[in-house]
Amino acid sequence: MKVLVVGSGGREHALCHGIAKSPRLRRLICAPGNPGIEGLAETAPVAADDVPGLVALARKEQVDLVVVGPEAPLALGLADALRAEGIACFGPSRAAAEIESSKAFAKELMKRAKIPTATFGTFEDVDSALAFAAEWGGRVAVKADGLAAGKGVIVCGSMEEARRALETMLVEKAFGEAGRRVVVEERLEGQEASVIALVDGRDVRLLAPAQDHKRLLDGDLGPNTGGMGAYSPAPIVDEATLERVRREILLPAVAQLAAEGREFRGALYAGLMITAEGPKVIEFNCRMGDPETQPIVVRLEDDLLELMEAAANGRMGPGAIAFDERAAMTVVLAAEGYPGKVRKGDRIDGIAEAEADPEVIVFHAGTARRDDELVTAGGRVLGVTALGATLKEARERAYRACEKIRFEGMQYRRDIGHHVLGQEQR
Ligand code: AMP
Ligand code: GLY
Repeated sequence: MKVLVVGSGGREHALCHGIAKSPRLRRLICAPGNPGIEGLAETAPVAADDVPGLVALARKEQVDLVVVGPEAPLALGLADALRAEGIACFGPSRAAAEIESSKAFAKELMKRAKIPTATFGTFEDVDSALAFAAEWGGRVAVKADGLAAGKGVIVCGSMEEARRALETMLVEKAFGEAGRRVVVEERLEGQEASVIALVDGRDVRLLAPAQDHKRLLDGDLGPNTGGMGAYSPAPIVDEATLERVRREILLPAVAQLAAEGREFRGALYAGLMITAEGPKVIEFNCRMGDPETQPIVVRLEDDLLELMEAAANGRMGPGAIAFDERAAMTVVLAAEGYPGKVRKGDRIDGIAEAEADPEVIVFHAGTARRDDELVTAGGRVLGVTALGATLKEARERAYRACEKIRFEGMQYRRDIGHHVLGQEQR
């Protein structure tokens, strides 16, 4: 099979790593890719949001399957454009991708499908939003409706905080158009976890659960980021909880989308709060998670390409996916300034030393080549990933590998896995 992977982050490096193992792969192309992906795939200089450029590339190379990593091209209709050309796509149509690109649509869909989630209201003015927040004593989450790169959410603990959050979005328009309309929700309490399903329009097959670390700093402090580290499995999501996620959340979401003419083919990501009453949805994404994909892919035992191809073609069927019993952890090494304006162009050393451990793999995200050197080129630079018999062992390996890598301004969390392993830091 000839496959085109779209994207340039750690998630896409991990996807290429998984797909490259398939005996069914004949040729792998990645657009635009990154220096880590160059060892696994041919890279093509087409941007991940250039829909006409990607369709032209897929046609020219006569690819059999396009795997779309990030949400932006899906929200722009890449899957629709490919399918119109008869090209199979792992990734939902624009209409189905609204489950991520519009929080208001996602919340209304959950209501129609009776999927457990926080009680919510959708508002365009501060006063009515505040009246709703008062019902929860100000303990609410205020969310910009549109895509705001994971940053358009403010979790509040008091009425004063809720008022400030609402004014920031609706009056000061800090998130631009994305914040013209806000969703205000009851604040859920518990531990967060991510469960991602491969979906063929009707059936869902669950990937191993994972946990991400969204805040920049140790102890879950500091600003929200795209994710500073992840591990799998996630012990908080035991077998019984996972079955509830499948039955109460993922299957009803897929069925509701299909019933509304928005058939979903691709990866459906449920961001969950595991509350005292059971799993509740915080958000849906229309794609794999980053960095969750990295530890999930290194544990995957089944053929990733075969699974994605079957999902894209609407003939995956149900069933369990096989995973390595061992645990995997990814620690993200970020550039100075992340998640704000980052410093770029610093030389990166030590990746080969880190990968001298056969159970370690360093996924590239924000890296670039400059002459013969590898340099930093983005906020999240590398995802240092290790397998271990236990999560503790995976963590020890991952952090030992991190210590071998150097670049100016490098920052990373020392407490990835703390929900399971406690606050003891590396
Ligand atoms: P989202 O972009 O919707 O995933 O929200 C970003 C982060 O805000 C989540 O990962 C949670 O940590 C937090 N959050 C969002 N909604 C809620 C909620 N209803 N209750 C508690 N925390 C929330
Ligand atoms: N790691 C969170 C996400 O991919 O949205």
